[in-house]
Amino acid sequence: MREAGTFFSGQLSRSASTAGYLKKRGIDEESVKTFMLGYAPAGWDSLLKYLRQRGYDDEVVKDAGLAVKGSRGLYDMFRQRLMFPITSVSGGTIAFGGRALADVNPKYINSPETAVFKKSDTLYGLSAARDEIRRQNRVMIVEGYLDVIICYQHGFRNAVAPLGTSLTAGQLNKLRHMTDRAVLVFDGDAAGIAAAKRSLPVICRHNFTAGILVLPDNEDPDSYLRKYGSGSFQELLGKAKTLVEFMLGVSRTGRTDTAREILMLVSEVKDLLLADEMLIELADRTRINEGTLREEFRRIRTKPARHDDRRPAEERRTPNKEEYILLSAVIAFPEKSGHVFSALDIEDLTDATVRSLCRKIASLPGNRDVSGIMEAADEGERRLISKFSVDPGFDLEHVDRNIEDCVRMIRRRKLDERIRAAEMSGDLRRLNDLITEKKHL
Ligand code: UTP
Ligand code: MN
Repeated sequence: MREAGTFFSGQLSRSASTAGYLKKRGIDEESVKTFMLGYAPAGWDSLLKYLRQRGYDDEVVKDAGLAVKGSRGLYDMFRQRLMFPITSVSGGTIAFGGRALADVNPKYINSPETAVFKKSDTLYGLSAARDEIRRQNRVMIVEGYLDVIICYQHGFRNAVAPLGTSLTAGQLNKLRHMTDRAVLVFDGDAAGIAAAKRSLPVICRHNFTAGILVLPDNEDPDSYLRKYGSGSFQELLGKAKTLVEFMLGVSRTGRTDTAREILMLVSEVKDLLLADEMLIELADRTRINEGTLREEFRRIRTKPARHDDRRPAEERRTPNKEEYILLSAVIAFPEKSGHVFSALDIEDLTDATVRSLCRKIASLPGNRDVSGIMEAADEGERRLISKFSVDPGFDLEHVDRNIEDCVRMIRRRKLDERIRAAEMSGDLRRLNDLITEKKHL
């Protein structure tokens, strides 16, 4: 892919029509370099020939998605297109997007998925935006390649774009290490609003805080910036709507139906403090009684199958996964049990079997080896212990990290419960203490 990129950039300077196009689109020299733009010439096999010369087998070129097989043999996938290398976070080229210079369909074509390119895990522009995303602790998510580049040129260097689809879990996971705050910028048309709505569940499910900006009539960031400049765009960004505000604004149904729709979204948020903020905002903005909202929220939240549950089946089957991992770790590494039982109140465990086994293990003297544990266990517990010896359910190599994660998760869940209880009883001081404790955790 790097070789192909080199070829495409070499072709860029030779093509007068492309130079004209770049000028027309207002793309400057620096952007061409930063985004390694290139040109795929007309003809059927220019890239193929170049790569053959450099010793690459046709099979390799085909597997890389750079050539396709037709009735008369292999030919170049990208022809007469402005080429946008798509990179991994670290900057290596893993795919290409190609834009037609003329008004032809399809306007863009992208590389197919390959061994190195998974579309749903990739964001265009992420390697260039990475540092700025960290610095601002905010990512700007726009719709197109050109939007990313023109934003960058205007000083908005934290912009990335999904690759022609709506935002995915995999893409948010890539961003997670950098930030959990996003501003989503959408084109100002019906498709833009629909795209904005589609991206909200995944935003919620991953505990991102999002501002939503739908641009005025038929503009995209690229056209807006070039028409009105960065000052004006910055002003719009400052007015990005919260999720609740956005949903209330675009709704065509009545207030209560919209409120319910928003509650469904909020119920996807796993961070309870974040969810709480949203509930309070919803109550404020709709003037629906907060207690009523919370009651309805609880009802939606405890419904077994949520409207759009895409968590893996594994996770759904074992709601107490962390407790099982913890128990399994204690059995596999009895020397760590002292630490675990001091970090955690056994009575806080929710799974009855796990709780009773932990009680028994904790009451064993000195070295709590498996045979001792087996002896103390009853029939059902023994089955569980045997199962763990076959499949511990976690990566033994990282036992300490697994233990810490599980302990933290269990403590957090318990805290959340206490927070809910304090909320119900209206004990604000206690609520405040608990929230502080949760923040520390
Ligand atoms: P748009 O159609 O909004 O185009 O597609 P754009 O980004 O404004 O493009 P310009 O300004 O006309 O050059 C938004 C994004 O959707 C993907 C591309 O990633 C594009 O940047 N797309 C669009 C495709 O993958 N295929 C298409 O045919 C069209
Ligand atoms: Mn555009």
